[in-house]
Amino acid sequence: MAAIDLKNIQRNVNAICEEVGEFIRIEGASFDLTRIEQKNSFNNLVSYVDKEAERKLVAALHKILPEAGFITEEGTVEQSKQKEYNWIIDPLDGTTNFLHGLPIFAISIGLTRGDQTILGDVYHIIRKECFHAIEGGQAYCNDQVIRVSPVKTLGESLLATGFPYYHSAKKDVYLDIIKEFLEKSHGIRRLGSAAIDLAYVACGRLEGFFEYNLNPWDVAAGTFIVQQAGGTVTDFRGGNNFIFGGELCAGNSHVHPEMLQLIQHKWHNHQ
Ligand code: IPD
Ligand code: CA
Ligand code: CA
Repeated sequence: MAAIDLKNIQRNVNAICEEVGEFIRIEGASFDLTRIEQKNSFNNLVSYVDKEAERKLVAALHKILPEAGFITEEGTVEQSKQKEYNWIIDPLDGTTNFLHGLPIFAISIGLTRGDQTILGDVYHIIRKECFHAIEGGQAYCNDQVIRVSPVKTLGESLLATGFPYYHSAKKDVYLDIIKEFLEKSHGIRRLGSAAIDLAYVACGRLEGFFEYNLNPWDVAAGTFIVQQAGGTVTDFRGGNNFIFGGELCAGNSHVHPEMLQLIQHKWHNHQ
């Protein structure tokens, strides 16, 4: 198969995010609350905007890389099984914020080759900030190179986490971990978009982010951008299974080990 021109693909993906982001923003300005639907639980919400945005993204991305398959949150396209290239898409990360009029939501697009991520795009729709990176390159916010923060200790760090829609038996130990981080850091934010949490770690607005029960479309793009910005990302065991494994700890390289140690100690000792 011919080599692909990743730089060109990236430029196209950024433009596609701007265009579909504008659709989401305009629909959000006049959103009718009766059009909210529930997915598999009363608090896991979705709307026609998520689905229509996904259809638009899939159509545009298919044009720029026809050989790639799709793994998408809303399942509006056949889900890929054995393709070499795959787009991993969350058309609207931060749906609950969007539906309640909180201006923190993003489009998240990752591209993988085999099991490697080679492109990531997180587009913060309201701030018009496009966080992006490709294999072998640096990470950017729009045209500016970004790096993770230089902060050295957990005690000087601002962190983010999220609360999944579905809580397993691990809920109490998770809250316990949050409690301990609250006592040991500058604080914890819950922005409501894992993709934006990760983008903010990449550009140094946050030192770290952790969450469990995440899906690949929440994190494929953002984790790659953190890595290209010099940060560290692992699962809760310190391994690499953080895109499909659900559990994720990301941070700058000073703070990540301190975060992981605290998480590991509680998470894996819990029965
Ligand atoms: C959610 C957001 C949220 C996180 C949830 C995700 P959605 O995605 O990323 O921050 O806490 O675990 O499911 O439903 O807004 O696309
Ligand atoms: Ca999501
Ligand atoms: Ca979503």
